[in-house]
Amino acid sequence: MKKTIVHILKEEPKGHEITVRGWVRSFRANRFIALNDGSTINNLQCVVDFENTDSALLKRITVGAAIAVSGNLIESQGGGQSVEVDVKDVKILGDADPEEVKMTILQPKRHSLEKLREQAHLRVRTNTFGAVMRLRSKLSFAVHEYFQKEGFYYVNTPIITGSDAEGAGEMFKVTAQDLKNPAKDKEGNIDYKKDFFGKETNLTVSGQLEAETYALGLGQVYTFGPTFRAENSNTSRHLAEFWMIEPEVAFNDLDMNMDLAEDFIKYVVKYVLDNCQDDLEFLEGRLIQEDKSKPEADRAPMALRDKLRFVADNHFKRVSYTEAIDILKNSKPNKKKQFKYPIEEWGADLQSEHERFLVEKHFKCPVILFDYPANIKAFYMRLNEDGKTVRAMDILFPGIGEIVGGSQREERLDVLQEKMAVLDISEEELWWYLDTRRFGTCIHSGFGLGFERLVLFATGMTNIRDVIPYPRFPQNAEF
Ligand code: 4AD
Ligand code: MG
Repeated sequence: MKKTIVHILKEEPKGHEITVRGWVRSFRANRFIALNDGSTINNLQCVVDFENTDSALLKRITVGAAIAVSGNLIESQGGGQSVEVDVKDVKILGDADPEEVKMTILQPKRHSLEKLREQAHLRVRTNTFGAVMRLRSKLSFAVHEYFQKEGFYYVNTPIITGSDAEGAGEMFKVTAQDLKNPAKDKEGNIDYKKDFFGKETNLTVSGQLEAETYALGLGQVYTFGPTFRAENSNTSRHLAEFWMIEPEVAFNDLDMNMDLAEDFIKYVVKYVLDNCQDDLEFLEGRLIQEDKSKPEADRAPMALRDKLRFVADNHFKRVSYTEAIDILKNSKPNKKKQFKYPIEEWGADLQSEHERFLVEKHFKCPVILFDYPANIKAFYMRLNEDGKTVRAMDILFPGIGEIVGGSQREERLDVLQEKMAVLDISEEELWWYLDTRRFGTCIHSGFGLGFERLVLFATGMTNIRDVIPYPRFPQNAEF
């Protein structure tokens, strides 16, 4: 197996020969190459004997160039690192013209995150994005590890689907065409409805409905895949394409669903604390640096790793929607003593300012809100005995707002049919979903966690566009 820098840095420097390939981060005094291969935030220092190296070759060791270095791994002579390479040979694998590099974000200086977004294909070579993307990868591994260890089965639900799981109508239409022989209507226009799939289809907004059918056969399942929302939200918390994790469990009620969500989140947060130390240290330092230029009141109340430890070690506060409304009605959130959208009455949907007030100012910890009014939630949630609330839960996180949305599902066929009739959801479309309530129906629950919101939380980044390689949002799909 090829060795990468993350492994080399842990080796005993016994003067043994190694070869390593990577990209030049800096080259000082014609002598010290800081080499990075993406395996870690840390660079490998490679010391060149410049007096005995061809000057034409030295000129080609420039920031951004890909090189292969061979030499002996020895204890570092200077401070700052424990080992270094005493270079015997350098090969240029791919040049990077310094004049052209100056026009890019590879130029070693501070670039704004907006600027980095414009060069999304190069930003992974910066320290910040390297750290974020390594952390993202570790987090997805932790997600699978948690569910597999708990005996869940991973199901792959369709991306192209005929149903609207959330009933919100925020879907991207799929207009698949047999381009050579498109189906045409009487006027000769392409008939998208009849084409390819024989019915109108869209990109999935959630794999929940299909996951439910699998939970009612495999018991405990989870999905982890891309989902799509055509909502026109230009915010730092919304993407048009995001990854969602959706566990679904037969025989779980809402309390068990909350237990599962809390245990799961704590597990993956602990996992990154234990397995991403170098990247977290870097990201934490970056935030502390950023905070120095902010007024005291806007600074983060806790360092990044303390914030993660806090979530991993403390109970999430569980509060009913009704209790939350009482708290909000009696609160003075700021100097003006008023929310932008004041809570007028029971039944209103909560705005993100309300959610963040509850989490950041009132409870000062993650909050699980449950038993929401039926009329602001999706059709599939189980109606409570009061006839006006449903067994829904949202988990709210500091700095993020809603990170999880879930519920106990309506398992009673007649109640579900009645609700669908009221909302004008066609039984013909969802005949397969209703079948699960006909044949061995049982209580069951699940939730959806927006993966990018979790990555935001774990990295301390503040814009969701900076935690996915190629963000999709309105007017943006250049890459
Ligand atoms: O609350 P949502 O819409 O719930 C569902 O889709 C359910 N079917 C889930 C389930 O019960 N299986 O979405 C779930 C989560 C949200 O809490 C949020 O974290 C994330 O998905 N999310 C988004 N993340 C990024 N961009 C968007 N546009 C998002 N919309 C939802
Ligand atoms: Mg939601």
